[in-house]
Amino acid sequence: MSERPVIVGNWKMHLTPAETTAYIERFLPLIGSAAASRDVVLAPPSTSLHAAAAALAGSGVQLAAQNSHWEEEGPYTGEVSPRMLEEIGCRYVIIGHSERRGLFGETDRRVNQKVRAVLRSGMTPIVCVGEQSSDKAAGRTREVVDAQLTLSLANIRLEEDERLVVAYEPVWAIGTGQNASPGDAVEVHNFIRNELAASYGRERADRTEILYGGSVSAANAAEFLSARGIDGVLVGGASLDPETFSAICRAA
Ligand code: PGA
Repeated sequence: MSERPVIVGNWKMHLTPAETTAYIERFLPLIGSAAASRDVVLAPPSTSLHAAAAALAGSGVQLAAQNSHWEEEGPYTGEVSPRMLEEIGCRYVIIGHSERRGLFGETDRRVNQKVRAVLRSGMTPIVCVGEQSSDKAAGRTREVVDAQLTLSLANIRLEEDERLVVAYEPVWAIGTGQNASPGDAVEVHNFIRNELAASYGRERADRTEILYGGSVSAANAAEFLSARGIDGVLVGGASLDPETFSAICRAA
């Protein structure tokens, strides 16, 4: 379990380059020195990554992409490759977010290809898993999360210098204002960590950051961030306001 919390702001399809620059100009003074003791990460849309990289230079705040293709280059109209993201300054890539799975047909096999590609480019994948409300109602949370995790990481060895982050995001909690209870999240995090230990060994599992995501707010962030087994948070809606997101970062 990581001593250094990871707080990721997933802006989804929000904020143009000009809006991104304005956001970061407000955000940096608000977090002050907090970025020195936490991994604070912003994930703007691809078109705003360049502006974000320029505005964040020297701040210690890291950049993530929200998605990536699995090839370095090629005839893939509309896609962006890991190599392009790495060169623009991304250190992380969110892979397999439930919106990509649900709205854009992303399968576990694709997630697996993307995780490999991101690792090959020297960046850290943030692999998202989580159950639907019907799975939860049927008591199938572990089964679903286990299948996603196993297939997403199939045949990936993880070299010593490669880092993996997993985000547990129950789909029913995303954008609904209905967060999982920290206690329930901890149970799933422990389950995920044990699964990782079975594949990669205990030491590796212990240093894999497992984040909670789904209706994290300034009001509930501290509770998640202080729970043992929760190494950070992946924040959607509440990351769009610099005041709110800086409060979440400082809560860690
Ligand atoms: P939310 O989104 O914080 O708006 O629920 C989380 C996410 O989709 O990563």
